[in-house]
Amino acid sequence: MAISPTLLTEIETLYRRIYGDELFAIHGRAFFSLLERYHSKRPSWLKKMDENPQWFQQANMIGITLYIDLFSKDLTGLQSKVDYFQSMGVQYIHLMPLLKAREGNNDGGYAVEDYQAIEPRLGDIATFQDVIKTYMDHGIYIAIDFVLNHTAKEHRWAKKALEGDPFYQAYYLMYDNEVIPNEFNKTVPEVLPDIYPGNFTYYPEIKKHVFTSFSEFQWDLNFANPYVLHDIVDIFLWMADMGVAMIRLDAIPFLWKELGTTCRNLPRVHDLMRLFQAVKQAVAPGVAILGEAIVEPEQIYHYFGTEKQPECDVLYNAISMVNIWDAIATRDTRMMAHELTRFPAPKHATWMNYVRCHDDIGWGFNEDFIRSTGRDPYLHKHYLISFFNGSFPYSFARGQNYQENAKTGDARTNGTLSALLGFEEAMEIGHPEMIERAFLRFELIHKLLFTLPGMPLIYSGDEWLQPNDKNHADKPGKKDGRWMHRPVFAWEKVQHPEKYPLESRAFTWLNTLIRFRQTEARFSNQASFQVLPSTEDAVLILQRDEEKPLIAIFNFSEFPKMIHLPTGQGSLVLTDPFTLKTKNVFDGQCHLDPYESCFFNL
Ligand code: GLC
Repeated sequence: MAISPTLLTEIETLYRRIYGDELFAIHGRAFFSLLERYHSKRPSWLKKMDENPQWFQQANMIGITLYIDLFSKDLTGLQSKVDYFQSMGVQYIHLMPLLKAREGNNDGGYAVEDYQAIEPRLGDIATFQDVIKTYMDHGIYIAIDFVLNHTAKEHRWAKKALEGDPFYQAYYLMYDNEVIPNEFNKTVPEVLPDIYPGNFTYYPEIKKHVFTSFSEFQWDLNFANPYVLHDIVDIFLWMADMGVAMIRLDAIPFLWKELGTTCRNLPRVHDLMRLFQAVKQAVAPGVAILGEAIVEPEQIYHYFGTEKQPECDVLYNAISMVNIWDAIATRDTRMMAHELTRFPAPKHATWMNYVRCHDDIGWGFNEDFIRSTGRDPYLHKHYLISFFNGSFPYSFARGQNYQENAKTGDARTNGTLSALLGFEEAMEIGHPEMIERAFLRFELIHKLLFTLPGMPLIYSGDEWLQPNDKNHADKPGKKDGRWMHRPVFAWEKVQHPEKYPLESRAFTWLNTLIRFRQTEARFSNQASFQVLPSTEDAVLILQRDEEKPLIAIFNFSEFPKMIHLPTGQGSLVLTDPFTLKTKNVFDGQCHLDPYESCFFNL
């Protein structure tokens, strides 16, 4: 079957919009023949996935994200771990960068030297394909990263550019003097001000200033050059044909640069995302595009596009992530209640809900909302920072500041789930009540993640309450503070759970919750989602489904709370379908224990 003419027209329109008619006249034919080539050789074993392009919307999807080397040493090791995921009920695994990265510090693999080779330490293409097939046979979809905003400076394109080849110099953004870089620096914020201030790096060997948003060794690609687009789309489709089910497009807000702007989320980036979506629909429809856009709430949402003009299929829900942590620190769920229903995923797409990942937490919240409650956004952010780094009196968190910016007073937060929820502190002190509270927070946070529409994502190791790696800075290439929450997976705990009663309790409990979610149809994306009014700021009340409502209640406070539920008059006994515990409600009055979270049928 040929590519649908509607998609071809859409692709042409987008191409012309991004590159102009003149460049389309020169390069358009080559671009279409690239698509035709992949379309005609799309492997037949991927048909099943292509016939079900919305596979990521399945109600029972639970995902996990991991670094292969930290989890199983290499791809061969990963082959033998399929049972672990299957017994947990995981259906989606994001393998963090596994393509050949530069040697030495490579930002955890996010500085790619060769997009079409596997990192030799991890294995090779053949082993990777075996892994994909094995996991697919077990009903588990595999996702990988496509770090397309930049290459390592050791990538062959960058090497040619460094040798002075003008064709490849045009693959990047390089300038002969500081005039334009200085102009950019006036409006472009810094990503890593602490370790890599500024947005440019000077290379004396070519006498050029190169755009390096992230670090000196990550060179931003110039997407205004159609040759870059062609090569990147070629690699994207090559990845798709390996059998990966989802491709995580890294750092998409940065893809387009224009003087006088922040160089984030520019309209052209959205055109590029629509182009990627149209290309994949035309050639590899079973592949889902996961956009990594960790920016302001409205800006994140924009990356879904619309039903008519779709961009990403899946987006990280950094909005709920930040708001969950905010409520943990403030015991105030008002902002979360306000934000949770503001950004419903359009029909074609879904959210990926998470609380921790391999990156730091950036405190991007709805500043207007904070103002409307009489608080100051700057001070509020500082409260969150000091709460999670543990310096605020009575804080239970053991995180650390990341990328403190002396100019703006900004900082982000690192730390594992266990450290931020208070397990680390409680276990060190050994106080049973503190441990119980941390456990209740662990339950609450997961029940909430599992109630939100979308796909819940677990960060590997959190299911075993992995603590911070305090010695990361002594390890080669692991100085960056984010390595604190990227420790080696503790198989010892899986093998000898009896020696780790608290950790195995968390793991077993989470497994039970996964099973509950997978058997409860009201968690599916088709079931409606609402935030119900709450008479207590510390208590969030959610409802899934209208016909047969499932109510989820979360007390974010260490104090008991009395709330009012819309249960009508008289006395009622409610049963939690997950724990089977009962609760007496009288005249709608309902008592909640500290940090209690529960489900009810209404
Ligand atoms: C993404 C990755 C992060 C990396 C950055 C640069 O944000 O998640 O780990 O440092 O992109 O590639």
